[in-house]
Amino acid sequence: MKHSKSLILIIAVLVLFLGAVMSASAQDTLKLSGITTTDDHPNGCVDCHKQSGGNDYRLNTALKEISGHPDVTKIVKTVPKDCGMCHKPNSSAGSLTLQVHKIHFENPDENHFISNYQGECLACHSLDLATGEMSVKSGPKNW
Ligand code: HEC
Ligand code: HEC
Ligand code: HEC
Repeated sequence: MKHSKSLILIIAVLVLFLGAVMSASAQDTLKLSGITTTDDHPNGCVDCHKQSGGNDYRLNTALKEISGHPDVTKIVKTVPKDCGMCHKPNSSAGSLTLQVHKIHFENPDENHFISNYQGECLACHSLDLATGEMSVKSGPKNW
């Protein structure tokens, strides 16, 4: 009886230990697009904001839903660079950095960029491991 109690104790300790090891290795496999895993969105914005599964997530369509937003269908050709023609620092449209960061990280409990893409900086940014330089991915418009 005493024996089986200590056996249960040993098993319990082992289970706790294995649990800790497993959650540590889950952290080790952190997704860093282009660094620890292949990059599913090498062109940034337009690789997510596209037509997919019968839905239209393209940015020219999405921005039409934001009341007061100008139609970007004709004026924007390279994304996100051309968004910057209005989204300059201290402009009334708000800087591109602030607007894009806000929209992808606000309301973190509900934001699909966080729940579906782990809020990954490297979805939009790329890191050149040779130089250490960080930049913003870019692509031609998809409309
Ligand atoms: C990895 C996928 C991904 C990438 C890359 C991405 N987005 Fe998004 N974006 C999302 C998701 C998911 C949402 C919806 C967030 C929410 O739940 O409100 C979103 C929302 C938006 C919205 C609000 C309108 C809408 O469609 O809901 C804009 C505008 C936007 N993104 C612009 C951009 C721009 C500009 C870039 C590139 C600099 C970019 N996104 C890159 C996934 C992405
Ligand atoms: C012709 C000028 C212009 C261009 C080009 C433009 N924007 Fe805007 N954007 C605005 C203005 C003006 C506002 C403020 C709208 C308002 O709040 O009334 C705005 C607001 C936004 C917002 C904030 C919306 C909110 O819910 O507060 C986001 C995000 C945004 N723009 C993303 C983009 C992206 C991404 C692009 C490029 C694909 C883009 N914009 C191109 C003028 C522009
Ligand atoms: C959805 C796309 C997206 C995501 C995700 C994202 N960024 Fe950005 N980031 C941008 C864009 C677009 C700019 C503005 C580029 C420009 O102005 O040309 C920017 C600019 C920046 C800048 C330059 C700011 C300045 O004032 O010059 C820094 C620093 C930065 N991002 C850090 C981060 C970090 C850290 C994360 C993750 C927590 C992150 N970004 C996630 C799109 C994104």
